[in-house]
Amino acid sequence: MARLAVNVDHVATVREARGINEPDPVFAAGLAELAGAEGIICHLREDRRHINDRDLRLLRETVKTRLNMEMAAVDEMVEIAIATRPDMVTLVPEKREELTTEGGLDVRARPGHYTRATEGLKGTGIEVSFFVDPDPEQVRAARDCGADIVEIHTGHYAEARSEEEAARLFGRIVMAVESAAGLDLGISAGHGLNYLNVKRFKDLPQVREYSIGHSIVAMAVYIGFERAVSRMVDLVKGF
Ligand code: PXP
Repeated sequence: MARLAVNVDHVATVREARGINEPDPVFAAGLAELAGAEGIICHLREDRRHINDRDLRLLRETVKTRLNMEMAAVDEMVEIAIATRPDMVTLVPEKREELTTEGGLDVRARPGHYTRATEGLKGTGIEVSFFVDPDPEQVRAARDCGADIVEIHTGHYAEARSEEEAARLFGRIVMAVESAAGLDLGISAGHGLNYLNVKRFKDLPQVREYSIGHSIVAMAVYIGFERAVSRMVDLVKGF
């Protein structure tokens, strides 16, 4: 049975569009847990465009499942994570100009950099996940840098324009997941997953956790946040 971890960044994005204090990602996180989510994710970006330091602090105080802090592997964020103690950190690449995380980490290009960040985090008991493209070489590099978990980037699969393209891109995910399983890494998947395209993962029981935000917040506009979360929980629990 796989777990759902809900990314609450998108709730903060709606708040920031008005520059006021609602909707509150902290409140949404509590509702997500009530609806069956087994983890809460927030991405503290360098420019604080959605989640801010107050959100992270309150989420740490209130999340009862597991708090996963997404962040760039830079000194400022490593220091904040060590001070805040999320249950886990997911290292992601970050570009100021992107709308959302665009690709996985190029771990192979900077192994020393990622190893240092990972050692600092793991030294304080924080589990470390690397967000990587579905590429067995990047998966292996993540393991070599000390990652406990790899989160396989599903965004390209999610954007496929045809059934054939989706099947081909899903094949890459299967290969990356199999190589991660062979290396004894924990395995998650995320980015662009929705109520339809997530169904293909039923055949990949090695994926233990799904990190999903945007499609849940979009569905919440129509049917309410708790129902949107519990509908996704029901789907991934069937895997
Ligand atoms: N995983 C990572 C590393 C992400 O950066 C994001 C986007 O915030 C997600 C998962 C969730 O993606 P989405 O919002 O498209 O569900």
